[in-house]
Amino acid sequence: MNISTGDKIPNNVDLAGDKVLQRALEQWQPEFLNWWADMGPEGSRTNDVYLRTAVSVEPSGWAHFDYVKMPDYRWGIFLTPIDGGRKVNFGDHKGEAAWQDVPGEHRANLRRIIVTQGDTEPASVEQQRHLGLTCPSLYDLRNLFQVNVEEGRHLWAMVYLLHRYFGRDGREEAEALLQRRSGDPDNPRILGAFNERTPDWLAFFMFTYFTDRDGKFQLCALAESGFDPLARTTRFMLTEEAHHMFVGESGVGRVIQRTCEVMAQHKTDDPARVRALGVIDLPTIQRYLNFHFSVTIDLFGADVSSNAATFYSSGLKGRFEETRHGDDHLLRDATYPVLQVLDGHLQVVQAPALNALNEKLRDDYIKDSIAGVSRWNRIIQKAGIAFELTVPHKAFNRKIGPLAGVKIAPDGRLVSQEEWAARESGWLASESDREFVASLMGRIATPGAYANWIAPPAVGINKQPVNFDYVRFG
Ligand SMILES: [Fe+2]
Ligand SMILES: [Fe+2]
Repeated sequence: MNISTGDKIPNNVDLAGDKVLQRALEQWQPEFLNWWADMGPEGSRTNDVYLRTAVSVEPSGWAHFDYVKMPDYRWGIFLTPIDGGRKVNFGDHKGEAAWQDVPGEHRANLRRIIVTQGDTEPASVEQQRHLGLTCPSLYDLRNLFQVNVEEGRHLWAMVYLLHRYFGRDGREEAEALLQRRSGDPDNPRILGAFNERTPDWLAFFMFTYFTDRDGKFQLCALAESGFDPLARTTRFMLTEEAHHMFVGESGVGRVIQRTCEVMAQHKTDDPARVRALGVIDLPTIQRYLNFHFSVTIDLFGADVSSNAATFYSSGLKGRFEETRHGDDHLLRDATYPVLQVLDGHLQVVQAPALNALNEKLRDDYIKDSIAGVSRWNRIIQKAGIAFELTVPHKAFNRKIGPLAGVKIAPDGRLVSQEEWAARESGWLASESDREFVASLMGRIATPGAYANWIAPPAVGINKQPVNFDYVRFG
């Protein structure tokens, strides 16, 4: 497939061959850049940042690293190559050739799926826009900016589909994607977690670990879509997503490592003393984890959902690793366990599998999340500290679905409103936790220097040293 990197909009979709589309996207481009200027990383316009830019879809060399000023970043449109023999692999259309165009009957649902995915991309840039002002190192600042520009490219990926396949309403949706604002009471982003604040770097690392991982699972489900352009674009987005989750996992890991070093050095596990030593105590890290995990698993939607069933049966959104499932890929008679509150406690009941697909994706996500948490625990164990981070019960602190109506402790116990109110600040990051973490945040912008509350990374980016000047200030 031809790559046009010299074009105004780098792409491998032959934009030059469709002048109307090209013109429409070239009109959207300055609006995107205005949005970036307003809502992108604060105080960063003149910085030269050592960034990765997607330049092709070849697994061996898809990215190019160099210094770039972010407003000049080459946001491109890249889809993995067409596999001519690809089929719809699930649902009522199973066995048909994958669609290269939008089937009329599924148009509205498909547009809704694409808009919902697209909306998360600029939302996270907005949520993270102040973080550069308090970066713990140039290495971390660069990683923040890398995540931000790639979320911008993911927005481009969805806007391309809207413009290319959805005509006038697609163009209107593309405009609206630049108008909604994270946390704006009048015109918020579509999904709850994307309207929460990301006020400090511990929140950022938790967000990229947990919430970007939701992105991974959503993209994996869309990569199975019978609508081939959506499958191909999400496949390529997943290539970039891996780094975002790495930033989260290694970021939290480095915070834990530094805390453990200080605890061991001063022979203390008293949170107040640990805080006084200028690092983040492990119980606070646990409370941040509880918050980000519970807010993120809500993103998968209601446990039992007729939309989920429709999206699957129509061939629009598959399961995680759909083709690896050994069943009929129709799920008409299958069941799947979901949680309900019966007789004062949580019980597992069987729901129709088609309607429980959100729950299934959530369960797959939870399995994946737990793996990284065990790796964090290994850091604590190695330091000889008796403390274990845990992932809260999936019914804890839910705001969506039937579990939203009850109060569940992190261990899965149904608790009274009174107990919840009395213990909430021990379970979820409180205002005073956030104030303490905020008090540690200060800008460190000298090559090789790292804030006291975080360990330096083991290795740098793209084989550069950890004291490399990842960002140069203009
Ligand atoms: Fe993204
Ligand atoms: Fe991401």
